[in-house]
Amino acid sequence: MSNARRGFFISFEGGDGAGKSSQITRLAEHLRAQGETVTLTREPGGSAGAEAIRKLLVEGAADRWGAMSEALLMYAARADHLDRVIKPALARGEIVISDRFADSTMAYQGIAGGLGDDAAARLSDLVVGAHQPDITLILDVPPKVGLARAGGRGDAENRFESKGEDYQEKVRQAFLKIASENATRCVVIDASADIEKVFSCVRRAVEMAIRAAR
Ligand code: TMP
Repeated sequence: MSNARRGFFISFEGGDGAGKSSQITRLAEHLRAQGETVTLTREPGGSAGAEAIRKLLVEGAADRWGAMSEALLMYAARADHLDRVIKPALARGEIVISDRFADSTMAYQGIAGGLGDDAAARLSDLVVGAHQPDITLILDVPPKVGLARAGGRGDAENRFESKGEDYQEKVRQAFLKIASENATRCVVIDASADIEKVFSCVRRAVEMAIRAAR
């Protein structure tokens, strides 16, 4: 309350093709128009070292890594990203918007990938600790819709999409479980609606959370 420019950390989560990028771009524009300084970032990636690790994770054959190796690579990237980008930006009082964060490891590796939620939670405690997002927007779409959107991008970063619809359905259910267990931090938004409608839900949730935190 006392510091009008306390840093504020927003993460976006959801299955592949949920439409995070367009919502993030709009939200950043909206917040900047209100005079906020916004750092836009993403995972895996967001710092030079983490972007190098990203290439190992998102390209190549689906079975290139097992769930544990995948989770450790995600957390190696996350540790660097947190230390070099997220924490410094929050310390400067900025709003940080990250396209994915630790909930993705819980959903993709911990729950859908079979690593187990206990191992994913322990990695989170070790690396993220108290630096959890202030709010997490989970964009929810049926995997069929998400995979059709993601496939349309036609890039080389399709390793997780190539794991198929059953895996994506497990990821979807995992995010819904994470949301119900972290109800004060997470907001689930129906992302099959049109972009404008989704954005008005995103904007409303973020504005309420910022007001409550500051
Ligand atoms: P993106 O397509 O949203 O940039 O994310 C790249 C892929 O990485 C996406 O399919 C989800 C996956 N991922 C994980 O499996 N675990 C994680 O911790 C993160 C951050 C991403």
